[in-house]
Amino acid sequence: MAVQKNFKALVVSEAAPKQFVRGIKQKTLSELPANEVLIEVEYSSLNYKDALSATGNKGVTRNYPHTPGIDAAGVVVESSNLAFEAGDEVIVTGFDLGMNTSGGFGRYIRVPASWILRLPGNLTLRESMAYGTAGFTAALCVLKLQAHGLTKDSGEVLVTGATGGVGSIAVGILAKAGFHVVAATGKTEEKDFLTGLGAQQVISRAEADDSSGRPILKGRWGGVVDTVGGNILATAIKSTKEEGCVACCGNAMSADLAMSVFPFILRGVSLLGVNSVDIPIGDRLLAWQKLAQDWKLDLSSDLVSECSLEELSPKIDLMLKGGIRGRVVVDLSR
Ligand SMILES: NC(=O)c1ccc[n+]([C@@H]2O[C@H](COP(=O)([O-])OP(=O)(O)OC[C@H]3O[C@@H](n4cnc5c(N)ncnc54)[C@H](OP(=O)(O)O)[C@@H]3O)[C@@H](O)[C@H]2O)c1
Repeated sequence: MAVQKNFKALVVSEAAPKQFVRGIKQKTLSELPANEVLIEVEYSSLNYKDALSATGNKGVTRNYPHTPGIDAAGVVVESSNLAFEAGDEVIVTGFDLGMNTSGGFGRYIRVPASWILRLPGNLTLRESMAYGTAGFTAALCVLKLQAHGLTKDSGEVLVTGATGGVGSIAVGILAKAGFHVVAATGKTEEKDFLTGLGAQQVISRAEADDSSGRPILKGRWGGVVDTVGGNILATAIKSTKEEGCVACCGNAMSADLAMSVFPFILRGVSLLGVNSVDIPIGDRLLAWQKLAQDWKLDLSSDLVSECSLEELSPKIDLMLKGGIRGRVVVDLSR
């Protein structure tokens, strides 16, 4: 394989203190960190954390100029680690990719072998990025709820931020696994999209955002996948039934959680934290195999849109306004 010395990447720079600009630039392979495996990226995807990194959030990325992209799927070009060889199809999600390591919004990445997963069978590189970190996180949430005892008999399962990346895939895989899914969204005009994914009921964001101040509410949910945090997470916990469980993975609304302990000590509700970033490769496999097999969604549907690197910038801004529906795959070969 001919290795290009120059390659195209989205580069975010700090033009002045707290002023960030982004554009497509030519980078050289020598600018990539000296890790073990060089990968030519075919596809990446847009996640909320990428939007934060691309707009100068120093909680995600400390140093600029920087190329975001926490997800990448592509082909190994060269490897100093015997576990991989040129031509292997692989995916990298999480760890430090796209945070402080040059990420998947560039045609090449160079990463430690311990971050790399062989492309699971029954998935193409594009399909793997249609899931990306969002899909992987949705799968981790569902697996964690199931490990805690959630079954189809537990009753309704709420998904918040349901039209977002994590939310929409959570709706789809929960429905595929036979759960009765209720989707909460700020985009009620997307009702057909959510019922198409398998939601049995769609409720508005306002209905999922209790303002009564009551410490505990009527128990409705057997389980919850929450992607937004804040008062919607508090409302979901307060509305969870006896011994029900809530998987918490996001903070699109707020990172705060202001509530009493009553749902925990009076109903035995469990709050389960989900972190997709640092999970070792061996443990990642189970979730990816579920996504590739039993829970495989129709990834050619309107769940997934595609763009080139040049078309990505406006989608980053839209994501921070909560305006993206489903998943955005970035085609690096264009
Ligand atoms: N723990 C982990 O490892 C992990 C992994 C991946 C993502 N995350 C986190 O999960 C969250 C979702 O990520 P994503 O990639 O799915 O982002 P996304 O595609 O932008 O989805 C977020 C969704 O949340 C809803 N939302 C946005 N702003 C809101 C607000 N102010 N109040 C209430 N709801 C709001 C919107 O859905 P509706 O319009 O349908 O309500 C939006 O589409 C982010 O906080 C991200 O950082 C965590």
